Amino acid sequence: MSQTSRDRWATKTGLVLALAGNAIGIGNFLRFPGQAAANGGGAFMIPYFISLLVVGIPLMWAECAIGRYGGRFGHGHTAGMLHRLWPHPASKYIGVFGIFIPFTVALYYIPITSWCLAFSWFSLSGAYEGLATRAEIGDFLRAFQGWESNQYFAGRGPLYLFFALTLGLNLLVLSGGIARGIERFGKIALPALFGLAIVLVIRVLTLEPPPGAGPDQSVLSGLGFVWNPDLRLLSDWKVWVSAAGQVFFTTSVGWGIIHTYTSYLRPDDDVALTGLSSLSLNEFAEVVLGGTIAITASVVFFGVVATQNIVAGGTFDLGFQAMAVILQQLPFGNLLGGIWFLLLFFAGLTSAVAITQPAVALIQEGFGVTRNRAVALVGLAVLTLSVPALWWEGALAELDFWAGTLSLLVFGLAEAVIFAWIFGMERGWAEITRGAEIRVPGIVRPLLKYVTPPFLAAILLGFSFQSLGDELWREHWQIWAARALMLAIFVGLAVMVRVALQTRPGEEG
Ligand code: ALA
Repeated sequence: MSQTSRDRWATKTGLVLALAGNAIGIGNFLRFPGQAAANGGGAFMIPYFISLLVVGIPLMWAECAIGRYGGRFGHGHTAGMLHRLWPHPASKYIGVFGIFIPFTVALYYIPITSWCLAFSWFSLSGAYEGLATRAEIGDFLRAFQGWESNQYFAGRGPLYLFFALTLGLNLLVLSGGIARGIERFGKIALPALFGLAIVLVIRVLTLEPPPGAGPDQSVLSGLGFVWNPDLRLLSDWKVWVSAAGQVFFTTSVGWGIIHTYTSYLRPDDDVALTGLSSLSLNEFAEVVLGGTIAITASVVFFGVVATQNIVAGGTFDLGFQAMAVILQQLPFGNLLGGIWFLLLFFAGLTSAVAITQPAVALIQEGFGVTRNRAVALVGLAVLTLSVPALWWEGALAELDFWAGTLSLLVFGLAEAVIFAWIFGMERGWAEITRGAEIRVPGIVRPLLKYVTPPFLAAILLGFSFQSLGDELWREHWQIWAARALMLAIFVGLAVMVRVALQTRPGEEG
């Protein structure tokens, strides 16, 4: 596809909101507080901010620059982009990660987003009203997800309905294209998301402990639970790995999606201020808003020890079970629950749109298919391949480990090396700073070359050392089937990339 006929962002604000919407996701409101609380509270924030400074911010700028550079040649996916940076056969297959990761994550991220929509509706309509314990809400959730049949749900009908609705909305936004679809949607969804989050923050900060509460059940101890540093944990390798992992997850760095969004920029448009603005919005949503709502509410209602157990149980225990129990006990509880799950839904949908777009770009640009057809094809693929997340118990966590965690680190490291060492920092720096509306600190240049890659390599090694052995051996067939599916997706995408780049190598606009 030629440069002139490519879709473009209409306004700078629209792009910043879309990029921020891409980054601000379920990870900000559920994953972050859980990770912070489980990894030493305030101590976690030290490696978190270090990772943000040495990996998150430099790579965000590098990815924006790579995306805009690739867009000049008509590439909206990282396989084409990395091949432009390094014209070697290996580079396009490394670039496949930037399509594989978002597409595979979409297979469970879109279902989870649809559960948030469903729970918003269930809360507003009073469907789980009166279920006063986490165990009861847990039964309700499991029945909704179709893992068991009980008095709440007898089949998977509602599950599929909300999934179809969410996927349909996602595809509708994408079918509008960049400016008329994603950008317009971001301009509505992002302010709505911030509005909902601020309402909840105010409500949580004014919570009164329930009657008979212990001395630790207060807003202050809730905030302290997230922020008081347990510095002994700083020597624990796992805390560093978790912090770097969270930075990747939340900023959307290492996914391939920042590249896709910035490929729709013009060659001299700014990327420096754009990247920094969206990253700052993401950090505000994560550290200030996400760090306040769920954990503080849980500590006020259940106390510190119970909250520790809830956090250890994972994202859904905190976000779905605990929050549903807490919010319905408050005045206008159904409305507050509706707001909480709607916030998660908006956060999820703005990210879901972003993770679906790279595959759309590959089909549209690589095979000369119209946008609507490409969107329909990707929608069909998500619909059929989401089976593991919806049907195979344990498969969701498996996809999240290999595609949504490990692959991010691998791809982040590979692109850092290609950008800083092979494409070269001279040209790389020129790409980052061209058209820049702010002065990019000179320190970023040596950081990207000498600090980001070894830091990532160390994290990756530590991560593999710590988790790979435990992860590899699994008995259940569902896990192996999920792995086979991921392998098939990667190989399928690699073949598509090979054909696409052979028949349509792209042209400079
Ligand atoms: N960055 C997105 C999130 O935090 C994917 O959920």
